[in-house]
Amino acid sequence: MRYLLEGMAMLEYDAINLAEKDLQYGREFLRNLQEEYDLPFISANVYDRATNELFAPAFLIKHVNGKKVGIFGVTLAQGVQRLVNPDEFEVRDPLAAAEQVVQALEQECDVIVALAHLGLKGALELAEKVPGIDIVISGHHGTHVRQPHRIGNTAIMQPGSKGKYLGLVEFALQNGQVQNLTGKTVALNDRIPDDPRLAELVRRYDDEVLLAFPLESPKAKTRFSLASERACRRCHPSEHQQWRSTLHSHAWETLVQKKQAHNPECQTCHTTLFGQPNGFVTLKENPDMVNVQCLACHRPKSPDLTVHSNRFRRGGSANGKTNGTVKDFLEITEETCVTCHNEDNSPHFDYESFLAKVKH
Ligand code: HEC
Ligand code: HEC
Ligand code: HEC
Ligand code: HEC
Repeated sequence: MRYLLEGMAMLEYDAINLAEKDLQYGREFLRNLQEEYDLPFISANVYDRATNELFAPAFLIKHVNGKKVGIFGVTLAQGVQRLVNPDEFEVRDPLAAAEQVVQALEQECDVIVALAHLGLKGALELAEKVPGIDIVISGHHGTHVRQPHRIGNTAIMQPGSKGKYLGLVEFALQNGQVQNLTGKTVALNDRIPDDPRLAELVRRYDDEVLLAFPLESPKAKTRFSLASERACRRCHPSEHQQWRSTLHSHAWETLVQKKQAHNPECQTCHTTLFGQPNGFVTLKENPDMVNVQCLACHRPKSPDLTVHSNRFRRGGSANGKTNGTVKDFLEITEETCVTCHNEDNSPHFDYESFLAKVKH
């Protein structure tokens, strides 16, 4: 969080809308960082319990080319109880707050921008119920929406999360009216060079993660467990061979190349059953569970994997083929994939065409 806010300070944002993931760090922490980095926090519906007043200004007004741009922020009040300490903050109704602020801003601003941490549905509802906003910038779910939605004269943009895309809005002001508004998003991919100061900040963060989670070398010649692909290979050689040819069997190597193999945040999807029974814990503990192996897709019904292998061992209860009557593993569906192939990490995921590439 500290690195994130330091990065945001470097980017010189005009306004930063507070939401549940900021508030979860607590009042003291936020205040200290706000002062240290001079961050322009805003929120029209987050109240400080100690004073019963808004924790940050409801809005701010920027002067751009002789015009006034009013920017205000609102955030979700519902479903955030798990993260927000009720002794520190109260999050009040965002729509009522927005209505009040827009009334005030309309008096003096040429353009009104809402930072709406409400999810896309909530942002659309805001545009519909609170007229007078020109641009709504939507957050919370983090999905990337290329083209603006429109409701009346309001454009709603959701450029995604984690700085992967930049939202760009262009419009003309004529007779105090926003006209010819177009919007698009620009991918901040490898074609756009890193800012050296930000790159340095990311390196510092990586170093800290590496210190907290050092990558210890695996013990030499560890025996592989029944959960490992190597245990499946013996009885399923052709499936194993096909799996070897997919990138799932190189997912760990990808992290090594990116110098991120130590990072638990990346390990969750580039290893097998991360943190679950039989799954990857650390490289030192079970190096045989790196990569996206068989059990990442074939989730066993029982954590006791001997059930499956013993069935087919010599002397087991079902020695040989059982013609499909045995089902020791859960059915594979799209849900199996999207825990890893989510919007953030696999934006072009399409179940049918991706399935065709991994089927054996
Ligand atoms: C001792 C041999 C043996 C081992 C080890 C073994 N399997 Fe199997 N497995 C079989 C046989 C034989 C069948 C065929 C059963 C049938 O005909 O229904 C089978 C069936 C399956 C099926 C389809 C039926 C079901 O239960 O859902 C899956 C999926 C499967 N194995 C995955 C795995 C995975 C993953 C591993 C490694 C963790 C593994 N197997 C290890 C012998 C083995
Ligand atoms: C445990 C996480 C995880 C699960 C579950 C998972 N994947 Fe993947 N998948 C990955 C990762 C990580 C990569 C990228 C590997 C790399 O490039 O290092 C990947 C890559 C792929 C690729 C590109 C591979 C190639 O060889 O071209 C396809 C296709 C794919 N996955 C399909 C699927 C499908 C279909 C499912 C569900 C049936 C699925 N994946 C389940 C993590 C997962
Ligand atoms: C939520 C699951 C998830 C997490 C967390 C995750 N990845 Fe991945 N990663 C994937 C999947 C799925 C793919 C395959 C994407 C595709 O082909 O659509 C992938 C692909 C990649 C690729 C190859 C494709 C590319 O984009 O260049 C790299 C490199 C990569 N991941 C690095 C990382 C690093 C570094 C981290 C940690 C900062 C990380 N991943 C965290 C799921 C994840
Ligand atoms: C990316 C996901 C994925 C991975 C990883 C994967 N499989 Fe599969 N596997 C599938 C899908 C999809 C099928 C098609 C049948 C189904 O839908 O259950 C399948 C089918 C099978 C079957 C036949 C099941 C049956 O019902 O007849 C076996 C056996 C099997 N896989 C073993 C393995 C083994 C062994 C590995 C590891 C070396 C592995 N699989 C890795 C997705 C995967």
